[in-house]
Amino acid sequence: MTFYVTTPIYYANSLPHLGHLYTMIVADTIARSKRQQGTETFFLTGTDEHGINIERAAQKNNRKPKEQADYVVNYFTQMTAAFGLDTAHGGYDIFMRTTNPFHYEGVSKLWRRVARARTPKGNDALYKGHYEGWFCAPCASYKTEDEYAAPQVPGEPPTCLVHETKLDRVSEESYFFRLSDYDEALLELYERPGFVRPEARRNEVRSFVAGGLQDLSVSRLKTSVSWGIPVPNDPNHTMYVWFDALSNYITAIGFGNEQQNKAIGFEKFWPALHLVGKDILRHHAVFWPAFLMAAGIPQPRGIYAHGMWLDPTGRKMSKTLGNTVELDVLNKYFPIDGIRYFCLREMVFGQDGKFGYEALIDRTNSDLASGLGNLSSRTMTMIQRYCDGRIPPRAIADESRLAAKRARVEDEMAISHFLSHARDEFIHDFEDFAFSRALEEAWAIVARADKMISDARPWDLAKDPKQRETLNAVLYRAAESLRWLSVLLYPVMPEAARAIYGQLGLADDVDHIQPRELRWGELPEGTAIGEVKPLFPRIDKAKTMEEIKMQESGVRSQETEAPGDSPTVSERAPAGSGQHTTEADAVSGVAYIDITDFAKVDLRVGEVKTAERIPKADKLLLITVDIGEEKPRQILAGIAQYYEPEKLIGRKIVVVANLKPRKLRGYESQGMLLAASVEDEGKPVIATFTEEVPNGARLK
Ligand code: MSP
Repeated sequence: MTFYVTTPIYYANSLPHLGHLYTMIVADTIARSKRQQGTETFFLTGTDEHGINIERAAQKNNRKPKEQADYVVNYFTQMTAAFGLDTAHGGYDIFMRTTNPFHYEGVSKLWRRVARARTPKGNDALYKGHYEGWFCAPCASYKTEDEYAAPQVPGEPPTCLVHETKLDRVSEESYFFRLSDYDEALLELYERPGFVRPEARRNEVRSFVAGGLQDLSVSRLKTSVSWGIPVPNDPNHTMYVWFDALSNYITAIGFGNEQQNKAIGFEKFWPALHLVGKDILRHHAVFWPAFLMAAGIPQPRGIYAHGMWLDPTGRKMSKTLGNTVELDVLNKYFPIDGIRYFCLREMVFGQDGKFGYEALIDRTNSDLASGLGNLSSRTMTMIQRYCDGRIPPRAIADESRLAAKRARVEDEMAISHFLSHARDEFIHDFEDFAFSRALEEAWAIVARADKMISDARPWDLAKDPKQRETLNAVLYRAAESLRWLSVLLYPVMPEAARAIYGQLGLADDVDHIQPRELRWGELPEGTAIGEVKPLFPRIDKAKTMEEIKMQESGVRSQETEAPGDSPTVSERAPAGSGQHTTEADAVSGVAYIDITDFAKVDLRVGEVKTAERIPKADKLLLITVDIGEEKPRQILAGIAQYYEPEKLIGRKIVVVANLKPRKLRGYESQGMLLAASVEDEGKPVIATFTEEVPNGARLK
């Protein structure tokens, strides 16, 4: 038996954020769980690298499309490594790129098959026609009337409801896929239990298809989209990016390429479980199955559509709103396992969820630091202290039974029964993708063990030699509960689970201990426990929130000043080493500043005197600005891709005059200019004045 799980492949036009990380975390968790059960598993993630958006992003950045993709992939791979999701950390098996040559081969084969196919209603599956419609480049799709807003000025193009950008009128020769003939076959497919999940999404897809399907344009003229895979035998056309992208799921494992097939195995791993965001469910549950039917390829095992992460106020995260959760920040301030736990615990899989740093800190502190982490460290420390660092015997002799009962130590039957039940529930929920509920089950084990310790008070029992057996029994129960927890939680929190397992003195790797086979009492008595280390140090909320806010504004201003050539993910500390704090959490809401904080920033009106490009730095302009001082200030600004230097001269701008000078590319920058950051890529728009203002005037 094998198992194959996929995430969507992400557009290579912008850098990933929490939304992208999320599906990878879920897929990684599922893959680890399957591997732990001994199933040979293949886990795919990657990037979607063709199409007009990548072409446009590349143009904006003065790169070739492939260079643009390489740039994003470089960041992706650094990020996945930093979050322990790459192959080296036991995560994905392939980082798929649609620019891989074997992919070209595989897609071409798929296309040829579809081109030869007949629909269930006996027509050619592919035909050439003419398409005219409103096309949204960022969505890479044509828009129907209910998907765009009519123009405010008659004669202007309508705007995309998703991106609020103007649509392009496109009319051109195009290949069409006869999707309209697949409605009945698709409706039948949706009857397959678990094919589209959750149920509410299945209903949505079903009514969409039942409402009638339109044929799908699956090619563009090379003259309008050149960055794409050529249509076999018709090189004037490039394939529709979704045809290309969806087929990655089969080409990655060897469809259409012998070498790849030998290395991985299409027959061996297909069909896959596809995890996708609900926004791209239609592509996966309607287009993709229809393409596969046409090509005579078995259907995916299932498609699971998850919800969206919203910000704490409930707005969708987007770069334009500036409310995305950046991976650099997450990586710097939070333990990986804490992030994984939060993602799976906080969002009911399939529904939308809210993500806020404060909530993440709260959960890390309560469930991990005070919960699991504390249970582990108090248990281990007491075994160290009272039992010479060895797992104590668990049995209670008849004559000690009364004492144990008084100390409210559970008998073995009761605890074993409780644990087995919790384990079964956990496994059941997990297989049902109900991760949040499964974790609640696991935390019931934490709570029960904690309560047992608090009730029995081992530190008092230790003072009385007659209570030795009771003391041993309590600590054994706590340690054995921890062993069960580490096995159950491994897929969700691999590092913490390994740490607990190792601290219990167990030598094998928890990554292949089967949860189903957990039996009470298999933690060997007398085992010397390992070195005791804290798992999840508490996070100082007030301090961390302040640092995050600083870093976020720093990142944003730095982006305007000088985006580096190669993005980096900050080096993370080893797992489990968060920030040590002593202060209690200050429960603060928004991080307000008072007027004296604001007054620390010296904002001045300046006039641009000179502006020039810097050799070999395609993003930076070197400008000098008169802010009413003796000599103009020299400032480096990361705006070269958006502003011609000549046009800036004479312009009034706003300068942060007391920013610590720093060197960039060998030039000292003595301040920063203010600009709004707009659109997905954070395009800078310089702040300016509409009335006359003297140079050096202070803003307050
Ligand atoms: N390239 C296509 C997918 C092709 S798969 C054959 C694509 N890429 S994407 O980069 O735009 O988005 C990929 C995934 O990220 C989608 O599943 C989308 O739902 C997910 N997310 C983007 N923002 C998100 C949140 N705020 N929350 C959760 N997931 C989100 O679409």
